[in-house]
Amino acid sequence: MSERKGSEPIGVVGVGWVGLVTAACFAELGHRVVARDIDAAKVEALGRGEVPIHEPGLPELLERNRERLSFTTDMGELLDAARLIFVCVQTPPTYSGDADLSAVETAVEEIGDGEGRALVMKSTVPVGTGRKIRKKAGGLAYVSCPEFLREGSAVHDFLEPDRVVVGAEPADEWAADAVAAAYEPLCKPVVRTDVASAEMIKLASNAFLATKISFINEIANVCEEVGADVAEVSRGMGLDQRIGPKFLQPGIGFGGSCFPKDTQALKQLAGNSGYHFQLLSSVIEVNELQKRRVMGKLAKRLGSLSGKRVALLGLAFKPDTDDMREASSLVLAARLEGEGAEVTAFDPVSGAQAGELLPNVKFSESALDALDGADAAVLVTEWPEFAEIDWVEAAGRMNAAQMVDGRNFLDPDALRSAGFTYDGIGRPGVAGDAGG
Ligand code: UGA
Repeated sequence: MSERKGSEPIGVVGVGWVGLVTAACFAELGHRVVARDIDAAKVEALGRGEVPIHEPGLPELLERNRERLSFTTDMGELLDAARLIFVCVQTPPTYSGDADLSAVETAVEEIGDGEGRALVMKSTVPVGTGRKIRKKAGGLAYVSCPEFLREGSAVHDFLEPDRVVVGAEPADEWAADAVAAAYEPLCKPVVRTDVASAEMIKLASNAFLATKISFINEIANVCEEVGADVAEVSRGMGLDQRIGPKFLQPGIGFGGSCFPKDTQALKQLAGNSGYHFQLLSSVIEVNELQKRRVMGKLAKRLGSLSGKRVALLGLAFKPDTDDMREASSLVLAARLEGEGAEVTAFDPVSGAQAGELLPNVKFSESALDALDGADAAVLVTEWPEFAEIDWVEAAGRMNAAQMVDGRNFLDPDALRSAGFTYDGIGRPGVAGDAGG
């Protein structure tokens, strides 16, 4: 595909997960893209056509749009090529819970105050950041354009967004128009607003989704007490259009690089302005407790965990990614080891990353190998291939066929008829119940 007529060249600063997806997708839309990163090895690898992250559809997109994409370590090259500069650098939480903006600050300094250029902020930043940068940056226009990509479906989310948010002050109207025009080929609604509101839309959206998850997790916990099935409850609730079916899947807590960080950042932001965000504090606390509840389920089945072998199926914070950040598996493995259990694990993708984070866990080459000789298993990540496991063989290889399905992903009947005791989250027949 050739460059789209009248398309705007795009600069991308930071070729991490968001930056790389953004660069590839803008190229797919017909824009010429110059992406810059300080990591020379990464830039060289990308130049050779290597893809440093696991993201479905991304390698194909990068390959297809090679002609329109270039990677560099040289900020000058980017500034020469583009007036719209999308900043996609990390903003990790500090120990205080505030966002660490040092990478953003470096990027802003490097871009300078170029008249006629616009800094388009993709990174998630505290509300008020844009206003501060705009004040300092002289002639540089500022646009807040938060990303709503999910790991594992980021390419789809970029190309099929529910909305694109573009926040700018009236003086930077031209830049907001240019950003909206860059997204025009998508034919999706563009929410034009001010910078602070755009920044808040991002944080509030993630906080609301996290709230939905903690809410359904608590409903699941109550279901266990009163004998209801949360899968049925979720289905019945989700059909109400005011509620919607998405993000009502209970489990062993949300993880990843976004919900834990952004809920904390919004709580902190509110706190710094003198407002105690009570609901969000509970959402965070419920999530921490939810990760630990698995231990109770295992203890009900196994008694003492000391000397027992527990197999973890899946380690990444969700399927289709190798990302281990804030993954529930980290908490679980640490607690199991703390109780004296031996932990084996299998994850189809995140083995290498996980190995460094979980030095005492014994990694297996397949799910069945991880289950071999185990006294219980916990399904941590709902990788589709786990639905295909031969449960009769698995039961034969385990020391005791016990499964805690942390994502309500497996078919309880199939497992039970293979000889397993099955415990899900908020489903009938949980540990301790007669139906187990
Ligand atoms: C999330 C948001 O969904 C994106 O819109 C946003 O752009 C992104 O954060 C970000 O701020 O960058 P992501 O963290 O990639 O995306 O993953 P999600 O698919 O949202 O899942 C987050 C966690 O919630 C996972 O651990 C998942 O297992 C859990 N989850 C999700 C549930 O426990 N239940 C659900 O119903 C949905």
